[in-house]
Amino acid sequence: MSRVALVTGGTRGIGAAISISLKAAGYKVAANYAGNDEKAKAFEAETGIPVFKWDVSIYQSCVDGIASVEASLGAVEVLVNNAGITRDAMFHKMTPDQWNEVMNTNLTGLFNMTHPVWTGMRERNFGRIINISSINGQKGQMGQVNYSAAKAGDLGFTKALAQEGAAKGITVNAVCPGYIGTEMVRAIPEKVLNERIIPQIPVGRLGEPEEIARCVVFLASDDAGFITGSTLSANGGQFFV
Ligand SMILES: NC(=O)c1ccc[n+]([C@@H]2O[C@H](COP(=O)([O-])OP(=O)(O)OC[C@H]3O[C@@H](n4cnc5c(N)ncnc54)[C@H](OP(=O)(O)O)[C@@H]3O)[C@@H](O)[C@H]2O)c1
Repeated sequence: MSRVALVTGGTRGIGAAISISLKAAGYKVAANYAGNDEKAKAFEAETGIPVFKWDVSIYQSCVDGIASVEASLGAVEVLVNNAGITRDAMFHKMTPDQWNEVMNTNLTGLFNMTHPVWTGMRERNFGRIINISSINGQKGQMGQVNYSAAKAGDLGFTKALAQEGAAKGITVNAVCPGYIGTEMVRAIPEKVLNERIIPQIPVGRLGEPEEIARCVVFLASDDAGFITGSTLSANGGQFFV
């Protein structure tokens, strides 16, 4: 029987590619999103993947949202914590709101989403948690103290929880994308992309969302059962840990 996979932020960008690739690999997929109904509905119509709207930064919304996914598809066996935002500013100009929004979505969102599915995974002796962190959580990035801190926190979360899940058949891993050609990155001015960012990528191009999706499909598979607590960097050679 096919496993159920839930992808947060699964209707756009990297998350959409992950949802589509997991479906193609035989999973029953649910895609969560926050507020862009138009994109979500178009994604659902195009892919046949059901979409579910809630904000991963609110614990009770995650509990309720996961319950509705499980009522329609079955118990969540693969959770991909992909939802993420940026609120970039130099630190001396960063507001508490910019800090809190990023921490609440990009780091606390992992707690909010993983905690409600964890007991069920322990009881069933199987689970896959895959957290989408970032190259900027590994190396830090000017103008992204909030984002880098949250994404580095995702890696600590991954390593600690992996140790708790190991004896129960649950793996917890992270993927750190480099610069991928989604709306988040295309929002960077073209000149900055071409003159400052792409020259730092040894393969000479942005990554494709599907290249991150393939990492996720592998980590979700039975073949990856011995891999836990790891960080898979997919960044075109831009940064080696
Ligand atoms: N793009 C890159 O180069 C890159 C590099 C490294 C890491 N990443 C990470 O990869 C992940 C996906 O990035 P992306 O570029 O694909 O982003 P994106 O194109 O901006 O899409 C973000 C997705 O997350 C959803 N989302 C945002 N906040 C949410 C919340 N509070 N609750 C639920 N869903 C929420 C959005 O929903 P709506 O459509 O409703 O807004 C959307 O589906 C993020 O964690 C990002 O930090 C991206």
